[in-house]
This record gives sequence, C-alpha cells and structure tokens, in this order.
Amino acid sequence: MTIRLHQLRCIGCGIVTSGEGMSAAFRCLQCKELFEVIYPSWFLDGGGDHSQRPNAPALRALWAERKLSTEMLDQSGVWRFRELLPFLDEPKQAVTLREGNTPLYELPRCARQVGLDRLYAKHQGMNPTGSFKDTGMTAALSVAREKNFPWVACASTGNTSAAMAAYAARAGMRALVLIPEGKVAWGKLAQSVDYGALTCQLKTDFDGCVRVLAEIVEREPVYLLNSVNPYRLEGQKTPAIEIAEQMEWQVPDHIIVPGGNLANGAALGKGFREMYALGLTSRLPRISVIQAQGANPLYTSMMQFNGERMEPVQADTRASAIRIGNPASWRKTVHTLQETHGFCEQVSEQEIAMAKAEIGAEGIGCEPASAVTFAGLKKLCVQGKVRRDESVVLILTGNTLKDSEYTIDFHRGTLLKDAEMAALSAKEKDTVHRLARPPVLLESTPEAVLRQMETTVRG
Ligand code: F0G
Repeated sequence: MTIRLHQLRCIGCGIVTSGEGMSAAFRCLQCKELFEVIYPSWFLDGGGDHSQRPNAPALRALWAERKLSTEMLDQSGVWRFRELLPFLDEPKQAVTLREGNTPLYELPRCARQVGLDRLYAKHQGMNPTGSFKDTGMTAALSVAREKNFPWVACASTGNTSAAMAAYAARAGMRALVLIPEGKVAWGKLAQSVDYGALTCQLKTDFDGCVRVLAEIVEREPVYLLNSVNPYRLEGQKTPAIEIAEQMEWQVPDHIIVPGGNLANGAALGKGFREMYALGLTSRLPRISVIQAQGANPLYTSMMQFNGERMEPVQADTRASAIRIGNPASWRKTVHTLQETHGFCEQVSEQEIAMAKAEIGAEGIGCEPASAVTFAGLKKLCVQGKVRRDESVVLILTGNTLKDSEYTIDFHRGTLLKDAEMAALSAKEKDTVHRLARPPVLLESTPEAVLRQMETTVRG
C-alpha cells in the first residue's frame, strides 16, 4: 500500500480531508473556500511522521544528478522534483511534455533603466505550450487520469486551455475548453483546436465561463483543471525550486508576478515556503503581484480593505490573459503577500505596452500579461520600495508568440488609441515612438536596403 503523505486543507475553515467534503469545483462544502495540498510530516510542528521528511542535502544532490538522466520523468523540470510532489499513486504514469527547465535570463538593459544591479527574468513562456501553465497542468492532469475521469475541462483566457488541450491529447483524454468569445489571443485559440480540444467560445467574459463550467462539473464526471484545482498549484510551485537551484540555492530578494485569477503568486509562495521549511533554503523572498489597472480587483482589495474582502470588477485590458474581474484564488494570494511582505501594484495599458517592448528589446520577449511585471517594478523602484542592491526576478508567464497581433499593433503605432497617447507626458510619448520598430516596406534593391541601414544607424 502507498503511504499517503498529502492531505487537502481548506484555507477558510481549516478542515483537513483526503477528498471528501469538497465540491467538484474544489470548494469546501462547509465554508465555500478553496483547498490547498499539505504535507504535515515536512513541517517540524506539523504533527506527522518525520521519517517521511525529505532530507535537504540529499535532495539537492539527487536533483542535480537527474539532470543527466534520459528517463522521461527526470527530464521534466517538474517531476525532477517529485519528492516534493508526492501525491500520485503511480508517479511513473505522470503525463509529461518535459515541461519546466526554463531559463533564468539576466535583463541588463532593463536593470540599468530602473537602477538595479541584478534583474532576472524566469521565462515560463519557454515551456512546451509557451506558458507557465504547463507546470501545473502536468501535475493536475496526471491526477485526473489516475482518477479515471473521461473528460477534463477548463474556463480560460487562453493559456490554461492551450496547456490542458496539449496534455489531454498526450493522455488520450477528452478536453472541454470554455473561452470568452473574441477575447483570446489567436495563438492560444489556435493551440486549443490544433491539440484537439472541444473548444467553445461563449458569449461572455472569463468570469462568465467559470460560472458555466462550475455547473457542468457538478452535473457530469468532468475533472476541473482551472487553478482552483489544488494540484495545479503543486506543479506551479516548481519554478520556485528551479529559481533557487539556478541561483545556487540563494533565494532572490524579490519575485514579481502578474496577477489574474491569482493562483500563480500563491503557488510560488508555497514552493518557497516548503523549501524553507525543509532547510533547502534559508529565507523567503518578497513576492509582489502586479495587475492591469483595468482588471485590478486585488489591488483595490488591498487598498480599500487591506485584503480582507474582495469586490469583483468589470475587467477590461488588452493583456487578455489577465482580463479577470472575479479572481478565484485571491485569498491565497493575499496570504502570500502578507507572509512575504510583498507589494500589490497596478499598471496602465500604456505602461504595459512600453514594458513589453523593453523586454522584447532584450531579445527575450513575452506576452502582454507578463510585461506587467516590469511595468510594476518600475513603479516600485520610483516609490523607493526596491533597493538598488536587491536581486529581483520577474516571472514572465507567456511567450511573445502567443499574442503577436498585440506586438505588431504596438510597433505599427496602432495599439494605443489617441486618447491613451494624449494622456502621456512628452517624455513618455517619445519613449513609445522610440520603442516602436515597425517593419519597413522597400524597393527590392540593395541600395534601398543599404540606405535604410544607414538611416537606422544615424537614428
Ligand atoms: N500571465 C499569463 C500569461 C496568464 O495566462 C495568466 C493566467 C496569468 C499571467 C495570471 O496568472 O491567474 O495565476 O494569476 N491565465 C489563465 C488562463 C487565467 O486561463 O490561461 P494567475
């Protein structure tokens, strides 16, 4: 018999279960809150059997050794850390696309711009389907398969659906995708259909899709793979382990994440908390969350109610991945902000567009939702909340190819409307123009091209 190391705990009333007392939409039947996966034996005050507590130096050595392995699970940047993911009955049956193993890039020009010595990007857009969702999807979809569900489903702004569709296809499971009509970037919609999911565009927004799906999963044996699913967060905690490993087990001072449905910041927080508890690292980083101004329920909650309650907003932003007005995991993220003394900021459409072009100019690129991290960092630096000598890691959640329409519109000068440009200072307008690098149409002669090169050099 397998030893059950993990339990599920409601973050509202604290009830602990191995699955009962929970709705199909992962809500507590008592208090309606969400659950998190816990491993009591890892925590010295957790009351569990401490012989099950992983050993930090041994783990580091084992994980390093696995980098050379040709085994499928070892090649995954999620399952390489499987000692910290002990919830599958048969780990070898995990559904994997070799996710994770994403690079930690330096951003020297962006660092100079904000006056920091060390600024990094953890590029989760370098995952198999181009977003951070793959790390959580390999975990939760593997659970769905183990539980023999015929269908998996999600409501999505596009990235979760792309990831779910791909992993379901690998597992030979049926996938149901609900997305808001007209508000999902083409690259993401294309992935969902290409990977064979039943893709339904509903005449509503993301929050409306969530409501419809919540009813469906109550009626039919359909496994919900939105980030309310606690196993998603288990996978999504592994980039925290990768960051620590990539920095020689020195935790950075500050991690900055975009905030949409508000699960990812909490997942990374959980990863850092568990590493700290197990003695893999010696402290927690500050974790800050940045929202788009047009989709800012967490920011508003922190400002008005100190994170004690959240009022949904009517969301609107071109960063369509985070166009969410009623985020499910807001309470988990508030805990993370409080525990790590993180900040919550909001950024405008213009700030997002400029930050995205600046990250692009580093030769890295990301999708608009990811760029809120750098836009937010700029604000935190101006406010004096980040010191020059602090090491900061931006979590870039999606690949630049996900939303190329946005990128082209920005560089052609058609993204920002007249009123948005008019709201900028002269210096900011200048920055927008300077950052724009539209493609140029030329006669097909060497002279025309050479002249253009010269013009470019002269600026
Ligand atoms: N960045 C990107 C690129 C995203 O796709 C998302 C969420 C987020 C940030 C926000 O993460 O929800 O954990 O706060 N996308 C979800 C989706 C909602 O359906 O793809 P979060």
